[in-house]
Parts: sequence; structure tokens; C-alpha cells
Amino acid sequence: MRRAKISIIGAGNTGAACAVWAASKELGDIVLIDIADGVAKGKALDLYESAPIEGFDCKITGGSDYTLIEGSDIVVITAGIPRKPGMSRDDLIVTNMGIVSSVAEKVAAHAPNSIIIVLSNPLDAMVYTAWKASGFPASRVLGQAGCLDVARFRAFLSLELGCSIEDIQALLLGGHGDDMVPLPRFTSVHGIPIDQLLSKEVIDKCVQRAKVGGGEIVQLMGTSAYYAPASGVIQMSEAIIKDKKRILPCAAYCENEYGVAPGAKGAGYFVGVPCVLGKGGMEKIVEVKLNEAEAPLLKESVQHVKDLVKVVKDLAAKPNEQGQPSFPKLV
Ligand code: NAI
Ligand code: 2OP
Repeated sequence: MRRAKISIIGAGNTGAACAVWAASKELGDIVLIDIADGVAKGKALDLYESAPIEGFDCKITGGSDYTLIEGSDIVVITAGIPRKPGMSRDDLIVTNMGIVSSVAEKVAAHAPNSIIIVLSNPLDAMVYTAWKASGFPASRVLGQAGCLDVARFRAFLSLELGCSIEDIQALLLGGHGDDMVPLPRFTSVHGIPIDQLLSKEVIDKCVQRAKVGGGEIVQLMGTSAYYAPASGVIQMSEAIIKDKKRILPCAAYCENEYGVAPGAKGAGYFVGVPCVLGKGGMEKIVEVKLNEAEAPLLKESVQHVKDLVKVVKDLAAKPNEQGQPSFPKLV
């Protein structure tokens, strides 16, 4: 059987952590790409040298040469700058838009049949950027945020409940910002609704902590989280590579779905929603009926995504020295 191939662009904190999780699950051969050629080569070699101890059979290579990614099933884009204390994810947009669009063009040139999973922030706007710059169908472009945000919510509930994390199921919608929408009504512990086990105050505290979970880590260590975000990427990758048809929360392209952009043919947005993930990438969006309290929260979060995409479009339309749009594909 042909082995799967996962390429990771950006061999920094999140990229390297993705490689470690992928190797530990023996998901396939792994490629690390970075503008820092030696860093990508060195981390790939270092990880490969752990294989005899850890017992995984994966080929792991690295460098700055995009021919290495040829034949990839999945390409993860982590390239870009992370936030520092005091910065929001949105503060990264100008720098990361240029990086993500140039990376996505190279992915399209060297791995035209791959499925892209974007991690770079601001996530929802960077998925849009990668989609436009790659020219891939929307079903083959996804963003990782929901798996992380739900995992954080589940982790905080588990701490409060003192029960195994494995039994906690939760749902979360919206953009990857502090206005993401965790949904306690769809949260349960082995089928038991969460509000039968925890008070509203405690649930609200966990919701709030999940919303600002990224900032909590940045405050503690001066840069973004990487173990849990990378874990989310590999959860998605595994579902795709093994064609598991898992329902996972991902930034996926929406038009009519959840009323994101009704009738906007080809002009929708990437928003965090539950999706069926399989070998085709995003195979289906699962719509849940929201109540009167939940729907406005999602609307607000989606509006934030739209505002960010507008910033991308405006920056892309700015004339360059030749008087042409700076990033014509993104306009
Ligand atoms: P990092 O600084 O550790 O690594 C980024 C890497 O990208 C560096 O090694 C850098 O050399 C490389 N890079 C920069 N420009 C490049 C280019 N044009 N081509 C190839 N490689 C390039 O940063 P970290 O912590 O890995 O974060 C990466 C991104 O992921 C940030 O934007 C961060 O905000 C985002 N992030 C997103 C999360 C999510 O849940 N969506 C969670 C955590 C981080
Ligand atoms: C996180 O949520 C910064 O997006 C990153 O940890």
C-alpha cells in the first residue's frame, strides 16, 4: 500500500510539533519546509533519529526546496509570524498574508492534488488567502482552529469535573477569535448534558477560558501555543488520510450554510463549522439548529471573519509600483 505523505510548511514551533504528532501516529512520510533551510533539515533529521527509540517507520526529510513536497496528500501551512504578548491574532494579518499567499502558490505548483490545512493566523482570513492563492477547490482547503478550541473547552471541563477527558464531547462554531462560540447546549459527558453536571457559573467560566485560551498561553510563555494546535492539525489529517468521515470542527468554506453568505456564489467565507472529513477533504458541512441566544453570537463571530477578509482584500487591491493590485489573486 502506498504510504501517505504530509508536508508541513513552516518548521517553527507549530510545524515541528505537527511533525512529531504525525510521526508518533505513523501517519505517513513527513516533509518539513522552511525558508530557514538548515532549521527544516535539522529538525527533520533530529526527529528521524528518534524513530529507532519511538519505533515509527516514517521517512522524514526537510529543507527549503519545494520539490520535496511533490506527491503530498496533505500540506499544512504554518508559515508566518506568531503573536507576542499584547498582540491579537489580527495584528499578524499584513505580514502573514504575504507569506501565506506565496506559500500557497508554491503548494499549488508542486502538490496540485493535495489538501491544504492552514494554521497561520489570523486563521479564517489566512484560509481565505490560501484558497485564493492556490486556486484549489474550496473542499480541498481547510483551517485548523475548531479542533484546538474544542479541545481546550473539553480540557477545562475535565479539570472542573475531575473525570476523563475522553468522555467529554463538545461543539464550537465561528471564527478563531475571542468571539468564537462554544456551545454548552451541545456539550455532554458520555451522553449526559453538561448542565446536569456543572453549574451555569462553572460552565460559563470554562466557555470564557476557552475563548481566550490562546491568549492565556501567550501570556505564560511569550509566544503562541504549539502542542495542542498541532494536535488539532494531526487529528484532521488522520481523518482525511484514513478517510474516516469524522465530524470535526474546521474552518470550512460556507455560503448558505449557517446563513454565512446566502447566495454568494463563489464569494463565501471560511468559518468554523462541523464538517465531515474524508479523502476528499471537506466532504460535507453539518448544520445544527441554533436557538435565539446562539444564532446572534455566531452572526457576530462571522462578521468578524468578514471584516478580516475585507482587510485582506483591501491590502491585496493596493496598487504596487506598477499600479497593479499587489496580490491580484486575493482581490
Ligand atoms: P514560529 O515562528 O515558531 O514558526 C513559523 C515558521 O515559519 C518559522 O520557522 C519561519 O522561518 C517560517 N516561515 C516564515 N516565512 C516563511 C515562508 N515564506 N516560507 C516558509 N516558512 C516560512 O511560529 P509558530 O508558533 O509555529 O506559529 C506559526 C503560525 O501559526 C502563526 O501565525 C501563529 O499565530 C499560528 N498559530 C495558529 C494556531 C491555530 O490554532 N490556528 C495556533 C498556534 C499558532
Ligand atoms: C492559539 O489559539 C494563537 O491561535 C493561537 O493558541
